[in-house]
Amino acid sequence: MGVGVLLRYGQYLPMTDATPRLTLGEGETPLVRSKFLERDLGIKELYFKLEGCNPTGSFKDRGIVVAVAKAKEAGHHTILCASTGNTSAAAAAYGAAAGMHCVVLVPKGNVAMGKMSQAIAYGARIVMIRGNFDRALEVARGLADEYPISLVNSVNQHRIEGQKTAAFEIVDALGDAPDHLYIPVGNAGNITAYWRGFTEYRALGKTEHAPRMMGWEAEGAAPIATGKRVDSPNTIASAIRIGNPASWQSAERARDESGGDIATVSDDEIVEAYRLLARREGIFCEPASAACVAGLMKNVRQGLDLRQSSVVCVLTGNGLKDPDIVYQVTNTPLEEATPDLEAVAKVLNLERAGSAKR
Ligand code: F0G
Repeated sequence: MGVGVLLRYGQYLPMTDATPRLTLGEGETPLVRSKFLERDLGIKELYFKLEGCNPTGSFKDRGIVVAVAKAKEAGHHTILCASTGNTSAAAAAYGAAAGMHCVVLVPKGNVAMGKMSQAIAYGARIVMIRGNFDRALEVARGLADEYPISLVNSVNQHRIEGQKTAAFEIVDALGDAPDHLYIPVGNAGNITAYWRGFTEYRALGKTEHAPRMMGWEAEGAAPIATGKRVDSPNTIASAIRIGNPASWQSAERARDESGGDIATVSDDEIVEAYRLLARREGIFCEPASAACVAGLMKNVRQGLDLRQSSVVCVLTGNGLKDPDIVYQVTNTPLEEATPDLEAVAKVLNLERAGSAKR
C-alpha cells in the first residue's frame, strides 16, 4: 500500500534505471459504491473514484510525480506550470520533495483559497497573472521554450502517462472497465489520460471493452462542447474555467473513439450535484468534480437508460480545496449558545426522552 504510481505501474510508464523513484504516496485512491444516487437514478452499479484522496487532494499528483521525476532525471533544477490551482499545488509539493525549484503562474484572483495556500506552504514561487488560465499557459509554454525550465502542464506527455494509472486502478478494482466513465473536462488532459489507460489495458487483454467517455464542461467554459474557443470563460467551478484547452483534439478523439460525448452543465446543476454528493453520499468534492455527477443526473433525466450499466464518476478534487464556495452556495445559519447544557438543548429544541410521562 502507498508505494506510489511509479513503483506500482512502472512497467507501463516511461521509466529508465535513472528515473528517481519519487513518491508522496499518490494513487490507490478509493473507488466507493454509491449509497443514494445509484438507486435514485436507477443505475445498475455506480462508483465514485475519490481522487481528492491523493496527497495534495487532487488527481494531478499522478501525472506530476512522473513529470517531476523525468525533469529531475533530465537534469533540470526548476519546474514551471500555469494552473487554476490544483496543478500548482501538486507541482509545488513534488518539486519540494524532489529538491527542485517550482514556479507557478496563476490567474490573479481566480484560484481557490485551499489551492493557493498549498502552493505557498510548499514554497513555490507564485506569479499572479493579470489574465485568465489560457493566457497564463501561453506564457508558461513560451518561457519553457526559451529558458532551461521544465514545463509540467499536461502538454508534457509524462503528465498524461501518470494520469492514465487511474484508469488502470479502476479496471484492477472492478475486474473490467465500466460501461461509462463520467469525468469533468477543463484543459482536457485527464479525459485524454483515462482514454489512453483504458485502451492500453484493452490492448493488453486486461479488459475486454473500454468505457464510453462522458466528459463535462461548464456552460460558461465549454469550448469543446460548442466547438468554439471561449475568450472569457466563466463558471463557479474555477478549476475548469478554461476557454482553449491544450488537449482539445485528443479529448475529441477519446469522445469519438469511445462512442461517448462531451457536453455541458450549468452552474446551478453543478451546485445541485455538489450539495447532493456531500449531503446524500457523504462525499465532499470540489465544484469542478461535481460537474460530472451533474452530467450523469442530466443524462438520466433526459432519458439515458443505465439500468444495465456500470458507471464510474471521477471526483477529481477534494472539497476542502475551495471552502469559500460552501458559504456561497449554502445558507446554513451558524447558531450560538452559552456553554451550558440547558442553553444548548434549548437552541436544539431537544425534549427529554419520556418527559411527557414524568
Ligand atoms: N477537476 C479538477 C479539480 C481540476 O483541477 C481540473 C483541472 C479538472 C477537473 C480538469 O482536468 O484539465 O485535465 O481536463 N485543473 C487544472 C489545474 C487546469 O491547473 O489545476 P483537465
